[in-house]
Amino acid sequence: MKPAQPVAEESPLQDLRSWLEQVRQMGKLREVQGASWNLEVGALTDLNAKAHKWTLLFDEIEGYPPGYRVLTGSMLDSTRVALTLSFSPDLDDQQLVQTLRRRLSGAQTSLDRFPPHALSTAPFLENRCEGSEVDMTQFPAMKWHEQDGGRYLGTLDAVITRDPDSGWVNVGTYRLMVHDQRRLGIHMNVSHHGLLHAEKYWAKGEACPVAISLGHHPVIGLVAGMEVPAEICEYDYLGSLLERRFPVVMGPVTGLPIPADSEIVVEGHITQERKKEGPYGEFVGYYAGGEMPSPVIQVEAVYFRENPIVLGTASGRPPYDYSYYRCPFRAAMLWNALQAAGLRGVRGVWCHEPGYSRALTVVSMKPAYKGHAEQTGFLASQLPEGAFGGKYVVVVDDDIDPTNKDEVLWAICSRTDPALDIEFIRNSWGMNLDPMVQKEPGAGLNELRMSRAIINACRPFERTLRGDFPEVVEPSPQTKERVLSKWGKILT
Ligand SMILES: Cc1cc2nc3c(=O)[nH]c(=O)nc-3n(C[C@H](O)[C@H](O)[C@H](O)COP(=O)(O)O)c2cc1C
Repeated sequence: MKPAQPVAEESPLQDLRSWLEQVRQMGKLREVQGASWNLEVGALTDLNAKAHKWTLLFDEIEGYPPGYRVLTGSMLDSTRVALTLSFSPDLDDQQLVQTLRRRLSGAQTSLDRFPPHALSTAPFLENRCEGSEVDMTQFPAMKWHEQDGGRYLGTLDAVITRDPDSGWVNVGTYRLMVHDQRRLGIHMNVSHHGLLHAEKYWAKGEACPVAISLGHHPVIGLVAGMEVPAEICEYDYLGSLLERRFPVVMGPVTGLPIPADSEIVVEGHITQERKKEGPYGEFVGYYAGGEMPSPVIQVEAVYFRENPIVLGTASGRPPYDYSYYRCPFRAAMLWNALQAAGLRGVRGVWCHEPGYSRALTVVSMKPAYKGHAEQTGFLASQLPEGAFGGKYVVVVDDDIDPTNKDEVLWAICSRTDPALDIEFIRNSWGMNLDPMVQKEPGAGLNELRMSRAIINACRPFERTLRGDFPEVVEPSPQTKERVLSKWGKILT
């Protein structure tokens, strides 16, 4: 992160509350009073997500004071993702991918142009509890799924840490379980940057300073939950993506930059103490992680706005509350990576929700030579942007919309011979949460294996060249236009 530069205090603050007002005006907000923290908020969030419906604002949650609210369903569709990123609201899935591609490739080249700017104060500082005054159990923490091992306060949170050597600030989304008034359990996977930072402090015998925002404009969740490369600060990345500097306030205890619009902020230290955390309903759709000894955060201070809003979400059997937004993001990142690798001919990429944006990727393209489709599939399955948790890559012709499951399945059914058109890669990278992962007894997390299947569902290249693949049965564009202009009302 670049050193903070002074900026006019009156610069407008885009916050969660103004975002919520915009969702209300779109007619997509539902307010729910009186639901219980014990499974009701979680189950409603899940049922709502299956239909990609409402943004849900829970208030008067049983056992918590009125005004202590939880928000879910923040990014269930392209309209709300576009709103969050200040893009045009009527982009469809592939237009969203294209817009994100442009912004992401710009973001990587202009990281130093939009460093965060530090404000001297923020609304969250209006209520401050320090030391023995801290009580994390006052904030609404949900038991989201039936077999969860505890109540979770942080789900779509932003966990801020700093590399003690280089000063690189990272913002990651890691779940937080409430242990007691002053202790939270944090789950950070190996290779995730928050853990890398913590391990450096622990190696010196120190606890790792941490600041956490529990509610904020959802745009922070968009980048904190995606794989922004190491050594790049998510605030810089976000600034370049949005082409404006992101307002932060330095934490009084840790000196870490905290989103200025935050609703609830925790400051403390990630200690080497371990306490059981989990199981938790994971994003693959299973309780796959089990119960684990996880690091404990000792909370030193908590700050919050009046009537604070926790930005929440829940995973589970897809589609779930945050499965949609990761699809256009991962698709855009992968498409850019394919292009950067020198591949030509790609017309569309989509990472599907049932594959939790990782296990089922579809690339549509115009093959230019024999083997071009296979090359595309192999690359998409192995480039870092698509490799982790990957399983199936389907390559389709450019007349197939990669977001449309019917079209993709039809291409698989009608343009493949299974024994000829499916290639396998054995011994590829495995993901621990995958219940089918290949794992020797006692193997570490970096020893897991999973194969990949590349399905070439493009018409056979040589038959396309010779023109002997049968024509598709459908009205021509001219017929379609003529009939729709005359009879279109019948179909509305
Ligand atoms: C809602 C949500 C919850 C997540 N929970 C966790 C978690 O508990 N632990 C974890 O290691 N990663 C979790 N992730 C994934 C990480 O946030 C993601 O991989 C991110 O890139 C990590 O940031 P980092 O690369 O800066 O470490 C979650 C992602 C989302 C969107």
